[in-house]
Amino acid sequence: MAVLLLVSVVVLGLCISTALLRWNEMRYRKKGLPPGTMGWPVFGETTEFLKQGPSYMKNQRARFGKFFKSHLLGSPVVVSMDPEFNKYILLNEGKGLVPGYPQSMVDILGESNIGGVHGSAHKSLRGTLLAIVSPTMIREQLLPRLDEFMRSQLSNWDGRTVDIQEKTKEMALLSAHKQIGIEAYSEALKPEFDKLVQGVISLPIDLPGTSYSGGLQARKNMLSILRKTIEERRASSSVQHDMLGCLMRMEDSGQHLSDEVIMDIMITIMYSSYETVSTTTMMAVKHLHDNPKALQRIREEHFEIRKRKAPGDPIDWNDYKSMKFTRAVILETMRLATIVNGVLRKTTHDMELNGYLIPKGWRIYVYMREANYDPLLYPEPLTFNPWRWEDKSLEYHNHFMLFGGGIRLCPGKESGIAEISTFLHYFLTRYRWEEVGGETLEKFPRVRAPKGLHIKVSGY
Ligand code: HEM
Repeated sequence: MAVLLLVSVVVLGLCISTALLRWNEMRYRKKGLPPGTMGWPVFGETTEFLKQGPSYMKNQRARFGKFFKSHLLGSPVVVSMDPEFNKYILLNEGKGLVPGYPQSMVDILGESNIGGVHGSAHKSLRGTLLAIVSPTMIREQLLPRLDEFMRSQLSNWDGRTVDIQEKTKEMALLSAHKQIGIEAYSEALKPEFDKLVQGVISLPIDLPGTSYSGGLQARKNMLSILRKTIEERRASSSVQHDMLGCLMRMEDSGQHLSDEVIMDIMITIMYSSYETVSTTTMMAVKHLHDNPKALQRIREEHFEIRKRKAPGDPIDWNDYKSMKFTRAVILETMRLATIVNGVLRKTTHDMELNGYLIPKGWRIYVYMREANYDPLLYPEPLTFNPWRWEDKSLEYHNHFMLFGGGIRLCPGKESGIAEISTFLHYFLTRYRWEEVGGETLEKFPRVRAPKGLHIKVSGY
């Protein structure tokens, strides 16, 4: 009897599941949509996507081609795995392919967060951002700050065991504070920032205890600290040349930025540079550890620089520009580790794309990971080979998208590379290191070491 009951329950369960899946497929069986499967009502195929990651993508591509539909992270979505078409999407924001990041991100990073605006508002914000990370700004203001910061952060590591994941995260945030000019408030900002990051990608349910509500509260707390710094600056007569000083002086050149916009820009910079810079730095340490030939070559480059200088001299723009192999190591790290899997867009109206009809409001997942392992572009793609970047054209190749593309190409590309290069300079010339613990690394949806990545450091 019990067996019969169990069998009936299983059969009933299977029937209901099949009916639900079919019903959900029928809902999206509109004429003209790309092929693909939509999974469960509401949840779609999010679980498969998060669990199987790149292999889910590859399976779907094998079944449906490089342009397929699905339902991920709460929204119907078209995934594009075609590098040519990805480029087209990034270049055609003006045709109605605007950023499609979740509502939680817009709410927590602010209305003037660059990822939440498009058209003329984006153009003007982007101009402002580009001005504060311009080559002149990097050469004259940011590099000296980065040098001072890395020099002091990377002292006294001799004999210590360091969780390089944790350390690079902490340093990425503190370094952003230093570049903006708010390092005096780092202690107060740090715990709030951690909560803000948790809330940025979360279900937008404003109930006590949710990540979303924690993120909103953290934003409020951060704004009150940032407002205080702006007021203190106004009250003081000294002129500062950091990012905040630069933003506050834009008024002099006829561009009025409200305090709200300035604060959102500061939050944007902290958020955009945090995970990208820290993860790339951690993975560069990992790849160099595992590849002694590349380690030896990059060390030679940095000791060459030190030879030209008196002990204690800071590194300057010319030194940075001479770090050609270091740049290659950073780009190769970003490629092999895939720091950014893809970017999100959404359609502002029904439109035809790649021969299909995409409804208004659908997300487009511009999936860039595959291009990083394309053997035609990168022979032996799974090998860490920084030398491949000696061919300069690779960085300017049509399918190079490590920093996105089109009108949203990362404005922090150079300042980010300068930051990681400065870290590597002091790390490599001062220390050697061994990994301890043999910790595992997760590669999807984000690169991280769930239990940290511990290294035992000794003086060089
Ligand atoms: C070094 C590691 C970095 C990587 C791999 C990286 C990657 C990217 C990518 C892929 C995008 C495109 C997003 C999209 O199209 O939706 C982007 C945009 C952006 N990045 Fe970076 N980024 C890095 C560092 C930085 C730094 C250091 C900053 C801040 C100074 C920064 C600020 C931004 C901003 C503000 C945008 C939005 C640009 C726009 O919407 O016009 N990034 N980044």
